[in-house]
Amino acid sequence: MTISTGSPSNVINIMTRKLAAKNAIAPSQSDKGSRTRVISISSGKGGVGKTNIVANLGISLSRLGKKVMIFDADLGLGNLDILLGLTPKYNFSHVILGEKTLSEIIVEGPCNIKILPASSGIQEMANLSKEQTASFLNDLYDVIDPIDILLIDTAAGISSHVMYFNAMAHEVLVVVSPEPTSITDAYALMKILSIRYDVKQFKLLVNMVSDIQEAHEVYRQLKLVSERFLDINMEYIGHVTYDKNIRRGVRQQKAVCDLYPDTQASKCFSSLAVKLCQSQVSTSKNTRLFWKELIGNKQDLTKQ
Ligand SMILES: Nc1ncnc2c1ncn2[C@@H]1O[C@H](COP(=O)(O)OP(=O)(O)O)[C@@H](O)[C@H]1O
Ligand SMILES: [Mg+2]
Repeated sequence: MTISTGSPSNVINIMTRKLAAKNAIAPSQSDKGSRTRVISISSGKGGVGKTNIVANLGISLSRLGKKVMIFDADLGLGNLDILLGLTPKYNFSHVILGEKTLSEIIVEGPCNIKILPASSGIQEMANLSKEQTASFLNDLYDVIDPIDILLIDTAAGISSHVMYFNAMAHEVLVVVSPEPTSITDAYALMKILSIRYDVKQFKLLVNMVSDIQEAHEVYRQLKLVSERFLDINMEYIGHVTYDKNIRRGVRQQKAVCDLYPDTQASKCFSSLAVKLCQSQVSTSKNTRLFWKELIGNKQDLTKQ
């Protein structure tokens, strides 16, 4: 958050920066979207809170002044729009059928968040061909150009699409709950991403905990095994407490951060957003090149 004191030197600094931004060279076509920080949210196991986390984190980041877009990448069973009480006329299936462009399906959510809605109940959406994937990605870099942070809400499971969206992101945020099944699924997800897709850095978010101690304990256990048996690095990024107001929000189709800004979970989301903004990240990984290589040189992995 920028706090301006209004002192003469501050005003000059702000004016200089504005002028510099105005005179900056416009990004070339191949640079498009290259400044956007891409964060995927994944878990292996379903029902651990990914979609709620993406929605509330998006709102919290937007409140910090970031331009946020959320891509509902649960392509066949998307429900982010339902969660936020939105009724998009078009969704990702219309893009794949060639009826709409990606920019035409974008809807605006709370706090000016841009949302790319997924289809629900269309099984084919979970099995895109490599041509469809390639064309979608080309469009994606155009629409994320003015965006600071793209959050990708991935599907449950370890399908190749889930892996792709994680592999293309600059950061992979793994969500776990304290349940052993969630912990083992998160381990399996990181194992495949590290061995097959060379993803070595993970950020761990522990959801549905009673307090920070419980979250740290889950982190300690998972870090111990994963760093011993996998060649990865896992960083603790935060926790969200179990909060019945999240469920109340879901029933009212409103994000808890909007409905109950002072409840414990909302405070956790705000802290998480601040921590993410403070954490250093390299956006040098050229996600466009990554995809080109994957789609152009390899067999059709989308149909594994
Ligand atoms: N911190 C939390 N406290 C209480 N309930 C939660 C919390 N996080 C998620 N939930 C609930 O868990 C369920 C699954 O959440 P969801 O975001 O749909 O998970 P996923 O996207 O991983 O499948 C929802 O009913 C939601 O209300
Ligand atoms: Mg979900």
